[in-house]
Amino acid sequence: MATKNCKIMIFGATGYLGVKMVKASISMGHHTYAYVRPIKSNSADPSKIEILNNLKSLGVIVFQGDLDEHEKLVTVLKQVDIVISTLAVPQHLEQLKIISAMKEAGNIKRFVPSEFGNEVDRVSGLPPFKKLLDNKKKIRRATEAAGIPFTYVSANSFAAYFVDYLLHPCQISDHATIYGSGEAKGKIIPETILFNA
Ligand SMILES: NC(=O)c1ccc[n+]([C@@H]2O[C@H](COP(=O)([O-])OP(=O)(O)OC[C@H]3O[C@@H](n4cnc5c(N)ncnc54)[C@H](OP(=O)(O)O)[C@@H]3O)[C@@H](O)[C@H]2O)c1
Repeated sequence: MATKNCKIMIFGATGYLGVKMVKASISMGHHTYAYVRPIKSNSADPSKIEILNNLKSLGVIVFQGDLDEHEKLVTVLKQVDIVISTLAVPQHLEQLKIISAMKEAGNIKRFVPSEFGNEVDRVSGLPPFKKLLDNKKKIRRATEAAGIPFTYVSANSFAAYFVDYLLHPCQISDHATIYGSGEAKGKIIPETILFNA
């Protein structure tokens, strides 16, 4: 992927991570494509239309379609080399449809499934986190069984994503809860630095 002029298809391009992925792909000089859910102009969320227009203004080639449209998916995938998925957590198993289409297309040089969290083959968790890990593992095993070259990205936690939820920084309080001994070491890298590098 260090080479310029790859053709990269991004599923989930309108999402939190997807938008950053699109910008990174464009800034590295790749031809960037997005496969997005059809937008019905009369009922669409204006913010989604704005995101889509922004993608187009960046030079992204946008295809609209559902993941159930197998033939359309195969046709679109035949035009690209690399597939990155940043689909949302509830849609992780929907990636089986992308894998099936990539297998039929037969030209995909690398697939990066929607992971970007813990190294799922090495960690365990309680429900409902276990279900998330299990679904990501199913996608890994299906990718391997399909014989598609892959890269699994284990990024651990995005602090910016969780800071409101875990720390409630806007809530005024005279006490704080520290879990564990408070001595656990961690490494914090701002996401903006990673994606603007
Ligand atoms: N490590 C961490 O701390 C961390 C934090 C956040 C996310 N993640 C991981 O990053 C990945 C992406 O998460 P995200 O937060 O960026 O997701 P997100 O913003 O919720 O959504 C991602 C995309 O999924 C699409 N989508 C949703 N439902 C769909 C459907 N039924 N059919 C087709 N597309 C659909 C959305 O399209 P629309 O715009 O049409 O809704 C959007 O483009 C996930 O695997 C997640 O586990 C990791």
